[in-house]
Amino acid sequence: MKQLHTLMDRWWVDFRKWNPSADAVYQLLSAQEGTVTHDHIALRTFDDHTVHIDTVMAPLVAAGYVCRAEYVFPMTHVYSQHYEHDDATLPKVFISQLEARHFSQELQMTLTRLIDQIPREILGTWDFFTTARPWKTSFAVYETLKKESEYAAWVSAFGFQPTHFAVRMNAFVQYNELTTLNSFLKKHGFVPSTTGGEIQGSPDVFLEQSSLKAAETMVEFSDGTYPIPGTFYEFAKRYSMPGGTLFNGFITASAENLF
Ligand code: NI
Repeated sequence: MKQLHTLMDRWWVDFRKWNPSADAVYQLLSAQEGTVTHDHIALRTFDDHTVHIDTVMAPLVAAGYVCRAEYVFPMTHVYSQHYEHDDATLPKVFISQLEARHFSQELQMTLTRLIDQIPREILGTWDFFTTARPWKTSFAVYETLKKESEYAAWVSAFGFQPTHFAVRMNAFVQYNELTTLNSFLKKHGFVPSTTGGEIQGSPDVFLEQSSLKAAETMVEFSDGTYPIPGTFYEFAKRYSMPGGTLFNGFITASAENLF
């Protein structure tokens, strides 16, 4: 459990460092609402046997995370699962993996070249998460991957760190509606993502979410340092299902911001 909390703390510290506007929003909301906690974090990986979900999640599962549901996204060739922990202060973990076989031979070979650089002894251990990106790669590779899959390109640049943290809005008093929250954030100069609409989901599907545009991040590659879209901050409001239980799953209709 200690390692789990250490990892969560480190991910959060790194997330705020890479995404200063998320940090600013966190501070702003903390000042308005008191304690801000997170509903979930999202991780990405590939379906290669060395780094597939079961391997990546092994240390978190050993520390008490349990898989609660799975999701398929045939359009983007992504498969995902969400995990929950008995300790309700811990965020849910939404993890997805790209199914590389649906893409070109070239993309598959590029991913293999990246994955082959990961030291074998860290696979399936806590150490897997200690470096943001466990391989050397170039901006040229990023650009080539991006033509086929933004998902693959993102992981090539950022590795296995969370793509986003999602704020748990349910405890909020002033800003517990996404419309109110979004106008408050816009008034303070933050830019919501409008891909698929500012608000995704609805009370009918028991989950509403919105997110800020991904932070432009300077990333060091072997052929130079370039600004590319990095992590993003998300806001999630959950609704009770008939019977009164809060919906803890995810919706697949608004795939764009899920991962
Ligand atoms: Ni999310």
